[in-house]
Amino acid sequence: PEAATPATVTIVLAEPRGFCAGVDRAIQIVERAIERFGAPVYVRHEIVHNKTVVQDLAAKGAVFVEELDEVPDGVPVIFSAHGVPKSVPAEAARRELHAIDATCPLVSKVHREAERHHGEGRHVLLIGHAGHPEVIGTMGQLPEGAVDLIESIADAEAYQPPRLGLELAFATQTTLSVADTSGIIEVLRRRFPEIAGPRREDICYATTNRQEAVARIAAEVQAVLVIGAPNSSNSRRLVETAAVSGCANARLIQTAAEIDWSLLDGITRIGITAGASAPEVLVDEVIAAFRARGPVSIERVTTAEERVVFKLPPELNH
Ligand code: F3S
Repeated sequence: PEAATPATVTIVLAEPRGFCAGVDRAIQIVERAIERFGAPVYVRHEIVHNKTVVQDLAAKGAVFVEELDEVPDGVPVIFSAHGVPKSVPAEAARRELHAIDATCPLVSKVHREAERHHGEGRHVLLIGHAGHPEVIGTMGQLPEGAVDLIESIADAEAYQPPRLGLELAFATQTTLSVADTSGIIEVLRRRFPEIAGPRREDICYATTNRQEAVARIAAEVQAVLVIGAPNSSNSRRLVETAAVSGCANARLIQTAAEIDWSLLDGITRIGITAGASAPEVLVDEVIAAFRARGPVSIERVTTAEERVVFKLPPELNH
């Protein structure tokens, strides 16, 4: 018998998705620094958590390292969008390196908040994921022991301040799950009614909007593909958000090559989104991979318009 004509697959694109203003700015900083100062330009840590972005910039003359001691004297060094502990710019200054800070302004804002609380005598609880560079950077704004990390509701329930009568404040990582974070804050506010902090949390507009968009499409598709890296916090939160919003078949893929077609057998309606560090070309490649297998129709679901743009550092801003 002849092979059956493949059914049309409807791809529902979540909007907004992909690059946020902080990622856009960080990538531009690397590109302009290479233009202005010539290659090589060193970058401490992946500028944003995406291999495609890193490979493209490496091809243009960026050299990615994990620590400053891998940066030779006399070349510019850029700090990644996630932010760095205070010890890093201090060490760069000591070595008289030309340092350029690509920390997202919304992360810097959290840094200043943490400093303000500390300056006003409060002990800071940072809600976030252990080991993520943003968390390391934010904790590293304050002296050792001035910040405690809270990762979960269980941590919030069990938390004991280091001293009695200590005033507390909280701050959060910018790329957390909105729903999980509000649960943690609820516990902290119940246990420590006087705790200071932002009205809601410090989750950024881009994280919030991408979660809202994927939540909207999750209930009306049979599977969701989130394009993003395994070390990208906001991308992983998109998978979780899709799963709790009605689509258990939600998966993270870095590129079209990682699609497991066996899990998409018989599926005719699929949602696609991308984390804040994933370039749109990867979305295009995923759509092309579907088109190569049969007819595709595209729908878009838009839950927010984004017009946020961040200025470049003055030395690169012209
Ligand atoms: Fe900044 Fe949020 Fe993007 S903190 S880098 S705007 S995901």
